[in-house]
Amino acid sequence: MSSRSIARWASVALLAGAPAALAERAIEFAPFDVTSPGALIVAVGSDGLGGPARELDERLGGALSRAVAGLEFAGEPGESMTLGALEGYTRVGLVGIGSGIADAGGLRDLGGAAAQLAATWPDETVAIAWDDSPAAVDRPGAQIAFGALLGQYRFDKFKTEPQAAGAGVLRVLAREPSAARAEFETRWRPVADAVRFARDLVSEPANELYPETFVERTRAAFEGLAGVEIEVLDPSAMRELGMGALLGVGQGSRREPRLLVVSYRGADGPPVVFAGKGITFDSGGISIKQSAGMWKMKYDMAGAAAVTGAVLALAGRRARVHAVAIAALAENMPAAGAQRPGDVVRTMSDRTVEIHSTDAEGRLVLADAVWYAQQRFSPRLLIDVATLTGSVRVALGEEYAGLFTRDDELAAAIDLAGRRAGEPVWRLPLHPSYAADIESDIADIKNISGTRLAGAGVGAQFIGEFVEQTTRWAHLDIAGVAWRDEGTSTAPKGATGYGVRLLDQLVRDFHQ
Ligand code: BES
Ligand code: MN
Ligand code: ZN
Repeated sequence: MSSRSIARWASVALLAGAPAALAERAIEFAPFDVTSPGALIVAVGSDGLGGPARELDERLGGALSRAVAGLEFAGEPGESMTLGALEGYTRVGLVGIGSGIADAGGLRDLGGAAAQLAATWPDETVAIAWDDSPAAVDRPGAQIAFGALLGQYRFDKFKTEPQAAGAGVLRVLAREPSAARAEFETRWRPVADAVRFARDLVSEPANELYPETFVERTRAAFEGLAGVEIEVLDPSAMRELGMGALLGVGQGSRREPRLLVVSYRGADGPPVVFAGKGITFDSGGISIKQSAGMWKMKYDMAGAAAVTGAVLALAGRRARVHAVAIAALAENMPAAGAQRPGDVVRTMSDRTVEIHSTDAEGRLVLADAVWYAQQRFSPRLLIDVATLTGSVRVALGEEYAGLFTRDDELAAAIDLAGRRAGEPVWRLPLHPSYAADIESDIADIKNISGTRLAGAGVGAQFIGEFVEQTTRWAHLDIAGVAWRDEGTSTAPKGATGYGVRLLDQLVRDFHQ
């Protein structure tokens, strides 16, 4: 036996003996008690130790406050630190909370930061202690757990080596652990699971995730949930309905387009409908994109993932609402059979579109999706969600989605839900002049304007051309927020799953 094969055999033996690759910590709740030793995480504000941290400090004879002062831990949000060798504890973690925790978002950030710190520790069990009396939030422990589940997300299925660090348990200490557990399990875990479902879809590369596999993943995720019905339109069904815009975008790909419809009936009456852009890869088509960063265009189906995830959250927590997700799924590729600039397609609405850029494809698939939504469901509310334009990314960055609507009341409702959910929006205008920008010489409308001005608004305007005046409609451009180049406490870098929590919150606030 050569030394090389011995080495390989040895490493296989080591792997076999290693703990199973449980990638993330399970969430548990336990009574509030910082005196039971082990690994513990506490929050520290910029004005010093508070609540549980002070209690712990007393127990440790002031060692904690001396460490904080000596190490210049400022307690700012985003700051965290591990202290070792404190009597009775394997590790004590400090998480900065700045001027304090004022709302549910602050608790989620604390939970996420704690989970991310705990992920670097080898301890089987890590406790997070937060004094739950002061914050004006029901069941703060449930929000901490929710944040932890969001924050510890990772997408490591393509890593060959098992990612063992950070496995085990994260124990949330609460004054009323069983109430916190019940609140978390029934109302928030389903939402976290749906966010993670959306993140998984967005993270998957386009050789794995294309229209048909998007549908398969959706079927698997909804398996066994009550009140759910899934329908799928294939190209021949789309042709029958006249969906020339969606078909045109997909015609250059060997992966066939699909229109996926997921309905959840938790109540009677007309549904709220969420329609999502589902371009599983956007090369630009014949109007091909430059190659730098093109790999990221696997995330161009994030709108479809968000709307499907939102309905998964609603079904998972048995919300009393009738909600429908429509995912317009296609791959935008250059090929001999691909759509060309200058082509004219006929949409399901019968209006014709002259294609001036095959890279403005999201609005095309949504033109058919929103028209179908209105014909089929007469929705009480229609929201489309799309990574529609680079322009919104330039304007609003990674912090706000662009919100477009002509309905001020709806704008206020979405704005409020976004702030509550921690997925904020910023409203941008739909100026009447944008209609003139997309007039075509030979068809009813063209898919881009002749200038680079107000790109996000023109895209929104185009979709709005397929929305009837009587439909309550809003458009969310999530091109800036669906993917983060740098992570946060509740959204590690990469796919954010943006939109799931916002739409879930909107239903909580106004529709259930
Ligand atoms: N998927 C892109 C938008 C995008 C760009 C999302 C960057 C995320 C990051 C969309 O299909 C697109 O290509 N839009 C064009 C529109 C233009 C041709 C009017 C754009 O934004 O450049
Ligand atoms: Mn494009
Ligand atoms: Zn696109």
